[in-house]
Amino acid sequence: MTCFPSLFGRKLDSATQRSAELDDELSGIHNVTFYTYKELRIATDDFSPTNKIGEGGFGSVYKGKLKRGQMAAIKVLSSESRQGVKEFSTEIQVISEIVHENLVKLYGCCVEGNHRILVYNYLENSSLEKTLLARGHNNIQFSWRTRTKICIGVARGLAYLHEEVRPHIVHRDIKASNILLDKDLTPKISDFGLAKLIPPNMTHVSTRVAGTIGYLAPEYAIRGQLTRKADIYSFGVLLIEIVCGRCNTNTRLPIEEQFLLERTWELYERRELVGLVDTELNGNFDAEQACRFLKIGLLCTQDSPKLRPSMSTVVKMLTGEIDIDDNSITKPGLISDFMDLKVRSNTPKAKPESIPTSYNYASSGSYNLDATSSTSAGSSQATMTFTSAYARSM
Ligand SMILES: Nc1ncnc2c1ncn2[C@@H]1O[C@H](COP(=O)(O)OP(=O)(O)OP(=O)(O)O)[C@@H](O)[C@H]1O
Ligand SMILES: [Mg+2]
Repeated sequence: MTCFPSLFGRKLDSATQRSAELDDELSGIHNVTFYTYKELRIATDDFSPTNKIGEGGFGSVYKGKLKRGQMAAIKVLSSESRQGVKEFSTEIQVISEIVHENLVKLYGCCVEGNHRILVYNYLENSSLEKTLLARGHNNIQFSWRTRTKICIGVARGLAYLHEEVRPHIVHRDIKASNILLDKDLTPKISDFGLAKLIPPNMTHVSTRVAGTIGYLAPEYAIRGQLTRKADIYSFGVLLIEIVCGRCNTNTRLPIEEQFLLERTWELYERRELVGLVDTELNGNFDAEQACRFLKIGLLCTQDSPKLRPSMSTVVKMLTGEIDIDDNSITKPGLISDFMDLKVRSNTPKAKPESIPTSYNYASSGSYNLDATSSTSAGSSQATMTFTSAYARSM
């Protein structure tokens, strides 16, 4: 169990303004620090725009300095989002119980009136999306060695959630913006707000689909049945992104190059995988290892969840302890194969309240993904939750 020093703020016992809605869920959590709204206002200079470091589907993130000088990332959940309240309590429950080198650390939270705020360890090097995929915002050099360390670190963090924590945890939103980097570029998986706990005697959880297009496993997107294999699919997409240094979807590229996973499969079939490796590396990489990583990405994204390896096996494959049998790789599962997904490329980042919570499966068989947004790389995606008509009808 995590123990948070009391210097960060007030403990649960002294918190007096918790909302009735969250009372039951939070009353059992003893190892989380509860901050007052005033403390966090001071820490962020009244949530000054200059301290804002990001905005996601559920609210804005600010850099702040806590009382004793610790830096923190302070995530203010949008009060309009009722769904955010649920994610809020889930996130607290999940992260307060677990500690791992590759998982972000929660310092505490604030629940006062309508305010729902999470306080995390501040990670100096932001997210993989901002630093590796959306180039030009920083001077970080992602050498091949650094990339292998990041891939293996994320795999270890996920293996821990999947296989060591009881009950097992499915993250549900593994993607580049949820991989944060500390000063040494050690990766930390963040955003457990969408996490689902899988009871020991169940093979999957039926749930409304939540996640990010481009990283969503087809069987989860279509049937809403959630297993750890959905995370493994997302990890496979992320792994390929890290090796290639580009987003899974980039509508600014020629049509045949827009969808990275499709492209990876094509080049795998042509035995030209090495041509996908990020040109920013200027050829300074281990070609055998890079192709192995891409093949592992393909294995993780196999259409049949059963064909995807467990995360502990993925770790061993990445580190070279287990060989990959090329014959076991078949075409990855692509959502585009069974629905005509229309991903808009130039929609501005959606405000939390404007993210639709339900999508209609149009007669043309396509989802309109209004929450999809763009960055300089042309393809950043926001988390979204939707119920597919397909899922509802089953
Ligand atoms: N602990 C942290 N340290 C440093 N930066 C952080 C931290 N947490 C979040 N950020 C920054 O804030 C950004 C927004 O995070 P947030 O989780 O709200 O949204 P997101 O991951 O971009 O999108 P989504 O809501 O779809 O998950 C991150 O991409 C990251 O750059
Ligand atoms: Mg996030």
